Amino acid sequence: MTRNSIEVRPLGPVIGAEIHGLDLAAGIDSAVFEVIHQALLDHLVVFLPDQHIGPGEHLVLARQFGDIEPPHPVFGNVAGLPEVTIIEQHGDGSLYNDVWHTDVTFRERPAMASILHCQVTPPGGGGDTLWSSLYASYEALSPGVRDMIEDLTAIHDYYMSFGPSVLAGEGGIQQLARDIVELPPVEHPVVRTHPETGRKGLFVNRTFTKEIKGLSRIESDHILRMLCEFAEHPNYQVRRSWKPRDLAIWDNRCTMHLASSDFSGHRMMHRVTVIGDRPFH
Ligand code: SIN
Repeated sequence: MTRNSIEVRPLGPVIGAEIHGLDLAAGIDSAVFEVIHQALLDHLVVFLPDQHIGPGEHLVLARQFGDIEPPHPVFGNVAGLPEVTIIEQHGDGSLYNDVWHTDVTFRERPAMASILHCQVTPPGGGGDTLWSSLYASYEALSPGVRDMIEDLTAIHDYYMSFGPSVLAGEGGIQQLARDIVELPPVEHPVVRTHPETGRKGLFVNRTFTKEIKGLSRIESDHILRMLCEFAEHPNYQVRRSWKPRDLAIWDNRCTMHLASSDFSGHRMMHRVTVIGDRPFH
């Protein structure tokens, strides 16, 4: 496949682009990969409609970005391919993906990119995914607030989102005890510098960011709530309605996302997550 057949169509000035003229099933060479990579750096989330690939090819694509995350501590995975996470919901309220988050910020080296391949869409529609640019929200803060948060560090904790559901499962206490040893709380800067673009962005989210170090509980709660609310404004977002086989790649170093839980019936995605660097300010 030549670079010339590929078209990157921005979906707006802030975040999101569609890439057309690409058939991942035919394989991609390094020049084509570089087009995808550059589009990701420029647009933060890119959509590749109608990709007829299986979980193995999904994994091959993800490996071009870097090393793959170990199996997710809570979500299930594809048989024989533990790195391909299944994100599956039945529209029955048992969801924990409809709160804004950046993938696995509870790890010391959180995800660099995630690649989602749509398998099943809910029969009555809904189940869109929304992404928000953390560059745009950081840049829109008033200079005084940017100064105030510039050197802060926050604690991200696996327990915040997954603890209660793990605890409620069979053997929950033992499982949680193992998870807490393997995934203790970690510290990340509140303002992160992107290692490739050099741009700064917010790096907090409602799902995993527990507190800001060195502040009182009241200060930490209010500042975190303010930053999260600010970053969740529609000004910085793109929203995607899915069709089966659509594929999305996003940069977790400068975005957060959520899946809308407005549907009933079955929705299923495959996700592969690429390990990132240690966030720095
Ligand atoms: C995710 O939160 O990583 C998956 C989002 C989705 O299922 O749309």
